[in-house]
Amino acid sequence: MNQDQLKQAVARAACEYVAVKAPTGAIIGVGTGSTANFFIDELAAIKHRLDGAVASSEATKRRLEGHGIRVLDLNDVDALPVYVDGADEIDHGLAMLKGGGGALTREKIVAAMAEIFVCVCDQSKWVQTLGKFPLPLEVIPMARAQVTRALLQLGGQPRLREGFITDNGNLILDVHGLTISDPVALENRLDHIVGIVSNGLFARRGADVLLLADADGVKTISRPVT
Ligand code: 5RP
Repeated sequence: MNQDQLKQAVARAACEYVAVKAPTGAIIGVGTGSTANFFIDELAAIKHRLDGAVASSEATKRRLEGHGIRVLDLNDVDALPVYVDGADEIDHGLAMLKGGGGALTREKIVAAMAEIFVCVCDQSKWVQTLGKFPLPLEVIPMARAQVTRALLQLGGQPRLREGFITDNGNLILDVHGLTISDPVALENRLDHIVGIVSNGLFARRGADVLLLADADGVKTISRPVT
């Protein structure tokens, strides 16, 4: 199977998961990226069971609406039983590195409200240690140089994502060269650097369930009890 076929398989499994876990009439959260796009396409088949979805980006909103799925503002929603999203990397404790598509801030906000975070990945994303994929930071434009200096001090090499503006009107710095042995500690540290709106570590609130596709099929991996 090629990578797109793996993404499609995991998207189908996520849709089955939603059909079981989300009560009829529920509103679910939907992530951003190519795997999330496959999920949205699958979701169209069960849209009559849902009241709608909350989108984590403008691109996801457009795709959901293209399938006739109602998109709600997060402020108008009281509960999200499930949030489904991809990741750039996920470790064995189900901490994730996300933001390759630049939607990390809205993804984190929607994920924070969800009861169950279902991460959908192909096997290439499953890693021992996060950090090979550059860590995205959403940064207020006037703080770009200041945040760059702070990250150099932490041992990273931040690079501006050229020609990219987030849905919130901000910049993305992609930080190369970090070995993230303690994702929660780094997430906390980055949260305290002024000018960073959010960082791509989803470790404090990691995934609850990982649906992981490889050539043998889709495995369900639950977050280890700590
Ligand atoms: C977007 C994300 C995506 O979930 C992540 O980049 C994975 O994307 P893909 O499914 O295309 O590999 O965090 O901000």
